Amino acid sequence: MDFIRDYADWFYLIGAVLFILTLRGLSGPKTAIAGNRYGMIAMAIAVLTTFFVAENPVVWMIVGAMVLGAIVGIARARTVPMTQMPETVALMHSLVGLAAVLIAVAAIIHNNELAKLDIGLLQANGVNFHEMSKVHLFELFVGCFVGAITFTASVFAYGKLAAKKWAKTISGTWVKPVQALIFITMFAAGIHFFLTGNMTSFWAMTGLALVFGWVWIAPVGGGDMPVVVSLLNSFSGWAAAGIGFTLENNMLIVAGSLVGSSGAILSYIMCKAMNRSIINVLFGGAMGGTAVVVDTGDKAPRNHRSGSADDAGFLMSNADSVVIVPGYGMAQGRAQNAVKELANLLKEQGVTVRFAIHPVAGRMPGHMNVLLAEADVPYEDILEMDEINSDFPATDVVLVIGANDVVNPAAKDDPSSPIYGMPILEAHKARTIMVIKRSMATGYAGLDNDLFYNDKTMMIFGDAKKVVEDMTKAINGNGH
Ligand code: TAP
Repeated sequence: MDFIRDYADWFYLIGAVLFILTLRGLSGPKTAIAGNRYGMIAMAIAVLTTFFVAENPVVWMIVGAMVLGAIVGIARARTVPMTQMPETVALMHSLVGLAAVLIAVAAIIHNNELAKLDIGLLQANGVNFHEMSKVHLFELFVGCFVGAITFTASVFAYGKLAAKKWAKTISGTWVKPVQALIFITMFAAGIHFFLTGNMTSFWAMTGLALVFGWVWIAPVGGGDMPVVVSLLNSFSGWAAAGIGFTLENNMLIVAGSLVGSSGAILSYIMCKAMNRSIINVLFGGAMGGTAVVVDTGDKAPRNHRSGSADDAGFLMSNADSVVIVPGYGMAQGRAQNAVKELANLLKEQGVTVRFAIHPVAGRMPGHMNVLLAEADVPYEDILEMDEINSDFPATDVVLVIGANDVVNPAAKDDPSSPIYGMPILEAHKARTIMVIKRSMATGYAGLDNDLFYNDKTMMIFGDAKKVVEDMTKAINGNGH
């Protein structure tokens, strides 16, 4: 095992390169499986190397923890339904935050013990102990408070996404001043700890950071939780990187930084696709899971045209090209398998069928991609917004299944609309538009949608799965 110890940095370097390849692999559905494999190999290298370089490891404790973790992880991975992935991820982030806090606490207690023993020796050798410990204090300060915020904020995000009673959204004029007060006191305690090494300040900072994580995330509405989870993912990475400095583990610094920066980039992409700023999401108050702006309805009633699944089936089977736009309603109605059946049937009849995916369709990043992959829709049939938008004017039929905001033309045409500027799938440019939803109700943003009143649009009311199945039956019945 001396070999691993001697070449530990080389092993860590291989692990770091594999982690970078992991992120590259995970950036596309075709390469995602390879990306996951790279990640598993990199993590195995990281864990084993760290195990062998450890001085006097308590083997039973480490192996016991690894076995226990593996059992819980495998059991959870086998049982968690795809719809519960966001809260599972939030719960995992909370553990990274908790680990950062515990390591910081352990390092400080250990450091204090060493300081008592070594201070005389270090000074005798000309090392300035106070300066040396200040660097450590800074790492611990950052790792611990970021970790503590990540822990409670992630637990709250989990509770919110899992609709737990204790995870209630808080609101009121008192929220922001209380948030500010806790943050400033926490920061002041942290600075005092950094400057003096005072343990009371350390405990105060840690306790306040735990409380802050809670009061910071509690006002954020359920619908914004995916952005928050992605941001907490980033935080957990930075906390791990901070602790990597404390433990002098290069692998942890690299892996933590990769998680930190990729989480931050994902949060940015999500905010951009929703045309919102991260500040607005985190401090804009409760933007409820269902409505941003409630349409007051003071406009004159407008007419829409509705049709049946049979009509729609007939039109689609006679089209040359169909683009399917799935949205939150497809997930809600668990219609993905029925949609795939419909797409296959149309293809058998010589219709070109493609899927158009908006980056924030649904309620979590990649929501639609995951559902369509689950239903075995071929990757080459799934196109991103930028790839498909120019094709809509030449498309015979667009079938919108439970999507609303992501196809709302107000985002392009109406400067007074709250979603003005948000990029959309330009379904309104197609020759015929069909929309499956249960009513004329608004989507997540709480806005009326001009697309539904367009002369070219036919509304087909009903649950997504049922309507799509009826369409398939109708096409089969047509005998095409
Ligand atoms: P939404 O605008 O939320 O619209 C979904 C539509 O689906 C609703 O209008 C609803 O109308 C319909 N629906 C619900 N259940 C249905 C069912 N069982 N069968 C048929 N229709 C059903 O969805 P979208 O277009 O996918 O847009 C996503 C929104 O979420 C955006 O505003 C986005 O900014 C926001 N958001 C996304 C994310 C991520 S990362 N994806 C994160 C946070 C927020 P009825 O009630 O009339 O059926």
